[in-house]
Amino acid sequence: MSIIAWTPALSVGISEFDAQHQQLLEMFNDLFGMIRNDGDKTQLALLITRIIEYTNKHFANEEFYLAKYQYPQLEQHKAQHLRLSAEALDIQQRYAAAPQTFPIMDVFLFFRTGLIRHFYNVDPLYTKFLHAHGLS
Ligand SMILES: [Fe+2]
Ligand SMILES: [Fe+2]
Repeated sequence: MSIIAWTPALSVGISEFDAQHQQLLEMFNDLFGMIRNDGDKTQLALLITRIIEYTNKHFANEEFYLAKYQYPQLEQHKAQHLRLSAEALDIQQRYAAAPQTFPIMDVFLFFRTGLIRHFYNVDPLYTKFLHAHGLS
């Protein structure tokens, strides 16, 4: 069962980015499966690291195209990515420092109110612009 399921409402209209957003949701659901089953802490830490690496790769990928075509809101978009990356790093470090007592709900909140909200509210702002430059 997925904690957060992909829906077409989350589409940003660029297949490469949709696939990456879907991949992140899948990793997030895996993480919650592991938490629910009281999975191994080392595996959990590894998955958190993988999620963060993938998130940063995805951000860099978006920024590459937004910079390439000189997206007018590039700086604002990058600033949001930077803030989310910093938040993710903070979570990773706090988890690594105290895996037994770490409030795992913080990871959920990061996804729900940070990443998903960004995918849903901020990423779609570039859709028209990138479509106009031939991306789909
Ligand atoms: Fe995105
Ligand atoms: Fe983004």
